[in-house]
Amino acid sequence: MGKDKIRRFKENDTFECLYQPQFQEVFGATYYMKGQWHERHFKNGNPLVLELGCGRGEYTVSLAKKIPQKNFIGVDIKGARMWRGAKTVTEESIENAAFVRSRIEFIESVFAPEEVSEIWITFPDPQMKKQKKRLTATPFLERYKSFLKDNGIIHLKTDSAFLHNYTLELVKQNNLELIEANSDIYGTGRACELLSIKTRYEMEFLEKGIKITYLSFRLKKEALLNEPEWDSSAYER
Ligand SMILES: C[S@@+](CC[C@H](N)C(=O)[O-])C[C@H]1O[C@@H](n2cnc3c(N)ncnc32)[C@H](O)[C@@H]1O
Repeated sequence: MGKDKIRRFKENDTFECLYQPQFQEVFGATYYMKGQWHERHFKNGNPLVLELGCGRGEYTVSLAKKIPQKNFIGVDIKGARMWRGAKTVTEESIENAAFVRSRIEFIESVFAPEEVSEIWITFPDPQMKKQKKRLTATPFLERYKSFLKDNGIIHLKTDSAFLHNYTLELVKQNNLELIEANSDIYGTGRACELLSIKTRYEMEFLEKGIKITYLSFRLKKEALLNEPEWDSSAYER
């Protein structure tokens, strides 16, 4: 492991905004903060919003600064990347942002029923060949249902036309409420303030001329979710 990574991991242990559950604390277990985020960490009852696969936490930090009346938690498995977000939150004393280092597969162990109001998924790997690993596939949506408020909102911002259209089909075919779908947020000139936040990944895609898409929908608890039937062969990314 490189020196820089070791230094970041050490510093991660000092950040009060960064929670790093051990495997045994989330694998088939209940993490001690489950159901406690409002009371023990944020010390308010404001809505809780997650960013899944937050990387360096740029979106989590920017959303927290723009919307002080909500709480934000970024989740990722890569500690060296999250160090960046946790350091900014610490240095700038941003009280409505925190981070959890965990695989998203174990997220039901970290958040309790009704604890979360919204989820952002920003630039995830589209997992074109591994449907079960897609962060908007039905196994993940079932996990999200366990802690998201009924009709809670899921936002997907991606450079992948494949993932955008897959998720759009899933939403339509399962009769979920689509709030917005935009296949070129900058091209249409309709990127609102929250969509204009740009992570390093996004900047790289934009420099290559790749279109950035966005969609948001409500996840109904009682919905029985099925994988969509669609023709994925037309997509290269
Ligand atoms: C392409 S990066 C995007 C990072 C960030 N959202 C951005 O826009 O800069 C995808 C991130 O998702 C994380 N990730 C992917 N699958 C994950 C999983 N199952 N559990 C936790 N993190 C995951 C990776 O570690 C990586 O940091």
